[in-house]
Amino acid sequence: MVRDFPNLLTRVKIDQDTQDICVRLGDEGLGGVAILGMGGSSIAGLYVQALLQEAATFPVRVNQVYTLPAYVDSRWATIAVSYSGNTEETLAAYNHAAQRNCPIFAITSGGLLLSKNISTMIIKIPGGFQPRAAFPIFFSVALNLVECLAGVNLTDFDTISKSLLAKLAKWDDSALTPRAMAQDFTGYVPVFIGSSHLTPVAYRAKCQINENAKTMAFYSEIPEANHNEIESFIADNEFNILPVFLRSSYEDERLKRRMDITTSLYEEEGFSPIRLSIGSKDELEEMLALTLYLDLVSVELAELRGVNPVSVNQISRLKKELE
Ligand code: F6R
Repeated sequence: MVRDFPNLLTRVKIDQDTQDICVRLGDEGLGGVAILGMGGSSIAGLYVQALLQEAATFPVRVNQVYTLPAYVDSRWATIAVSYSGNTEETLAAYNHAAQRNCPIFAITSGGLLLSKNISTMIIKIPGGFQPRAAFPIFFSVALNLVECLAGVNLTDFDTISKSLLAKLAKWDDSALTPRAMAQDFTGYVPVFIGSSHLTPVAYRAKCQINENAKTMAFYSEIPEANHNEIESFIADNEFNILPVFLRSSYEDERLKRRMDITTSLYEEEGFSPIRLSIGSKDELEEMLALTLYLDLVSVELAELRGVNPVSVNQISRLKKELE
């Protein structure tokens, strides 16, 4: 499933009718866009939010709770993302959006969300995946929807898909195969450290290690981590932590200095930080290439640990207990 990532980016495209609705909503003037979703289905929204952080002319907010903030009114477009279509937090937030007469798009493969087709513009995606493996579909659809709402050109995922396929073939023969990286993680708790558009990539990596390899992982963001977490990366600690710095070719001068200095300080304290970067033609390709690479690492780590990367027993148990 993970190796199919590049192809999944082009699997579902928004049709002309949906594009026309988005353009009309954009022309009428939007208050903002709220993207509702949990877990594997929320990551796409976090990527869209990070990508548009500086360029967006309206707020883009990811909602990972049951409720919506009071400022989300009928001028806000909402995008409900749920693979199963049955996630209770997403459905609750969806109901709030419906009560407030927000235009609602839903990206789902089925469930209750699919049955809400009277008031909702549904983008149906194929079944049979784990939600987290459907990330490339969620992301390409959500980004194109928000681009349409913003009245800007839609990202062409065909080109990015080809470039990721080429990268995938190269990693198999490189010195640092995903398997070799997974071996480096063995026995450690990785902390993925990102900045700007690579912060959601760090979060995705943490979640993939948790869900696929069934082991501890955390994430943090520079500059914020320089004001708190840095105090815990000291020689005198009882944990086996592995800092993994996600480095971007697009860091501005101050962020680059912070990343470099933080890495050196951690080294001086006896940690062995990994610096991970991947060549790319722009920020978007960089996000997706790093995501694919780290997704592969998480599956390799599952294999090394002898666990099933697909099952999510604890998530299912909890959902059942909540019924
Ligand atoms: C399972 C996974 C979970 C789910 C989450 C929400 O693969 O990644 O994080 O995504 O429990 O469920 P859905 O995606 O069905 O709304």
